[in-house]
Amino acid sequence: MKSLLQLSEVYAILEPGPVVLLGTALGGRANLMPLSWHCMMEFAPPLVGCVVSAGNHSFSALQATGECVINVPTESLARQLVGCGNCHGDQCDKFACFGLTPLPSAEVAVPRVEECYANLECRVVDRQLVDRYNFFILQVVQAWIDPSVTAPRTLHHRGYGKFMLAGKEIQLASKMR
Ligand SMILES: Cc1cc2nc3c(=O)[nH]c(=O)nc-3n(C[C@H](O)[C@H](O)[C@H](O)COP(=O)(O)O)c2cc1C
Repeated sequence: MKSLLQLSEVYAILEPGPVVLLGTALGGRANLMPLSWHCMMEFAPPLVGCVVSAGNHSFSALQATGECVINVPTESLARQLVGCGNCHGDQCDKFACFGLTPLPSAEVAVPRVEECYANLECRVVDRQLVDRYNFFILQVVQAWIDPSVTAPRTLHHRGYGKFMLAGKEIQLASKMR
């Protein structure tokens, strides 16, 4: 027997994850924020849509520069990830506060996070839905991966500080990519 779910809780069912650390930089100052409202939109070139609330410092940086890095953390970075979501980049240097290492990017003027197993350098390519939904469409212009991480234990947000960790993989015959 199922019970009704509050509409305000629906996000936790569909929230796709993995939670990423969105990197931006404004005026030479780099910032990070956890972001779980993102979705793939195209294979090639890879397009990713994401919602960045206008109240976040990262929103202003993304609007102003049109550049960001999607850093993908795994289990060992869970506390730093949540810490980055509990403060704002105009009040603290999150790389320094959470012991994360900035690495230069190749295509954008935003540092990558060394401790994350994947880094996707992105440019904003469509802002049509920003005013209405804070929804940015990004194109990934350079992608980095740590090949030693074969089964990344990524973090998937379930709401209120709860996360599911990626686990067992199964392989089935597929015509899809
Ligand atoms: C697990 C998690 C997921 C989050 N996902 C989003 C998101 O998808 N979009 C968003 O605007 N804020 C999201 N937030 C909230 C921001 O990360 C938070 O407001 C952060 O402090 C913003 O930092 P900034 O002001 O330095 O940009 C999330 C927070 C957490 C902890």
